Amino acid sequence: MNQEQWSAVDHYISQTVVPSDAALEAALEASSKAELPSIAVTPNQGKLLQIFARLVNASRILEIGTLGGYSTIWLARALAKDGKLISLEVNAKHTDVARANVARAGLSGNVEIRLGPALETLPKLAEERAGPFDLIFIDADKANIPEYFTWSLKLARHGSVIIVDNVVRKGAVLESNSSDVDVQGVRKLNEMLAKEKRVTATTIQTVGSKGYDGITIAFVN
Ligand code: SAH
Ligand code: DHB
Ligand code: MG
Repeated sequence: MNQEQWSAVDHYISQTVVPSDAALEAALEASSKAELPSIAVTPNQGKLLQIFARLVNASRILEIGTLGGYSTIWLARALAKDGKLISLEVNAKHTDVARANVARAGLSGNVEIRLGPALETLPKLAEERAGPFDLIFIDADKANIPEYFTWSLKLARHGSVIIVDNVVRKGAVLESNSSDVDVQGVRKLNEMLAKEKRVTATTIQTVGSKGYDGITIAFVN
């Protein structure tokens, strides 16, 4: 098993179970044209996020880490007409590209993209009583995952789901002495989860066109 095979299978899945459409394609194309890094979720992962949002009947979604809004589009499509998604992004170019992509997908009325470091925006959301959010997707800088998770618990309700991306990192999560702050961010999350009684959590390893990684899913009890 190797990367070539994982990518080929992801391609096959995209051709069958997870067909794309004009808005999703345009979002990826505009992101690549604007030279955003190609680190969006894959189509089948995007659809998994959408399924989670539907399972919790989400009317409010919080995303931390927008990039070009590709995962945003998948998630926002799960919302009812008056549902709302707030997505946090630190990079102004990314927010510009994402807003255009979301508009092209016809979702501007449901999506608000807030520019700024998420650790500054999250307390504001709490002050504004913007929550509770039914689904929270943590996918920004990995060093701050523990803080994002703590804020997510504050902004969630019983029955919310919190999903954290990129938690296996090609297996680097095993390296307890890693000097990589991203790895340490994930390891600290796992230590928190080991003690956290407020959630029921699991982590699933994934392979695909983005390589070997994983997601954590935490259900708020
Ligand atoms: N969720 C997107 C991918 C996000 S990539 C998708 O799947 O389509 C991670 C994003 O987090 C990048 O756009 C990066 O600029 C942003 N980011 C990094 N540090 C951040 C911070 N401190 N606050 C908010 N966003 C941040
Ligand atoms: C990176 C970030 C992501 O959210 C991702 O899915 C893959 C890679 C990164 O910062 O390298
Ligand atoms: Mg990610």
